[in-house]
Amino acid sequence: MPRAIPGGRPSALGIRALGRSHEDPLRVRDKESALASARFQAFATKTPRFLGIRVNSRASLDSSTRGPFRMTRLLLLNGPNLNLLGTREPGIYGAQTLAAIEQQAVQLARDEGRELVCFQSNAEHELVARIQQAAADRIGVLIFNPGAFTHTSVALRDAVLAMRLPMIEVHLSNPQAREEFRRKSYFSDIALGVISGFGALGYELAVRAACRHLAGGAARTQAGPPASP
Ligand code: DQA
Repeated sequence: MPRAIPGGRPSALGIRALGRSHEDPLRVRDKESALASARFQAFATKTPRFLGIRVNSRASLDSSTRGPFRMTRLLLLNGPNLNLLGTREPGIYGAQTLAAIEQQAVQLARDEGRELVCFQSNAEHELVARIQQAAADRIGVLIFNPGAFTHTSVALRDAVLAMRLPMIEVHLSNPQAREEFRRKSYFSDIALGVISGFGALGYELAVRAACRHLAGGAARTQAGPPASP
């Protein structure tokens, strides 16, 4: 039961008043609110889902959020034919399925105190729509393997730029070491970074880099062509 402070209002959160009858009621209230705030902090950081917000540690709180309900997520987006991973040219793309890659990425992000959502489509307009939805979905970083659209899609590039969405470009293979037409990417110059040639490990590296970026470790904060010298 909340107890009354001598000469003051009932103590917040049921925390007992520190004051004794000879203390100034205002000083008592200051002490009490400091104690209440310390207890709240301890409670919020120890409780995995407090008020529906994932708060694993103070370090995982995103400095770019303006309030507790603006916790940012990661979006893992995969383009055409990546739904076939596991059976598609395993000598180039590996034996892991997309479902397994996504599951690992979700778990890794969770370990880092972040929520990661996954989406794959073979259709350019669906990928554009998903990118346009990023702000409403509270996406802070896009991890994107655009597949063959890497080499063709001005529309997807424009969507990333329009949403000012920090993006990490991922490829299972190393397109620079393959056919000439794969050397052109519409994303590399607007990405925070590019990870290619490491198979499924690339997605893991990208999740780690994205979490580091959100924690404030990266220099560039939004996608955009590099400034001219
Ligand atoms: C890819 C490389 C692209 O050139 C290709 O079209 C893909 C996959 C990769 O992950 O290595 O579909 O993005």
